[in-house]
Amino acid sequence: MTLKSSLADHARPAPEKPLHHAGVDRAAIGRLVREFYARLRKNERLGPIFAREIPGDWEPHLEKMTDFWCSVILKTGDYHGRPVPAHLKLGDVTEADFDIWLAMFSQTAAELFGPEIAAVFVDRAERIATSLKLAMFFRLGDRA
Ligand code: HEM
Repeated sequence: MTLKSSLADHARPAPEKPLHHAGVDRAAIGRLVREFYARLRKNERLGPIFAREIPGDWEPHLEKMTDFWCSVILKTGDYHGRPVPAHLKLGDVTEADFDIWLAMFSQTAAELFGPEIAAVFVDRAERIATSLKLAMFFRLGDRA
C-alpha cells in the first residue's frame, strides 16, 4: 500500500454497518420513535413548534421517522425523504433547540434500549444534527 492510499484510507470513515441485535428491529424502533415524539410534543419549547408544523394526523410523520431510523440503524433503505429542506423552513428553531432534541432522544433511547445500543442511536443522531445545523445556521458568505 502506498503512503498516499494509506492516508486516504485512514481519512475516510469506515462505512457504517447495520446494527445486528435481537432487540433492535422495526417494531422496537417504532416504539422508540413513538415514545420520543410523545415526549417532544409535551416539551414546553419544542412542543408548540411541532404542533404548528404537524397540526393534523401524526401517523404519517411517525411512520416516516420509523423508516428514517430503520434506514439509519438497520440500513433497510426504507427512507427516501430530504431532511435538510424540511428543517430549513423552520425559521425559529435555534441551535439550543437541537440540544433539547438530542438530550430527549438520548434519554428515551437509553430507557428503551439500555446504554450500549442507545449510544449507537445517539452517535448517529448527533452526526445528523451537526449536518442539519450546518445547513441551517452557517453560510460561507457569513464570514467577515
Ligand atoms: C430542534 C430540532 C428539530 C426540530 C424542531 C425538528 C422539527 C421537524 C419538523 C417540524 C419536521 C416535519 C417537517 C414536515 O413534515 O414538513 C421534521 C422532519 C424530520 N426531521 Fe426533524 N427536527 C429537529 C431535529 C432533527 C434531528 C436531529 C433529526 C435526525 C437525527 C431529524 C430528522 C428529521 C427527519 C428525517 C424528518 C423528515 C423529513 C422528510 O423527509 O420530510 N430532525 N423535523
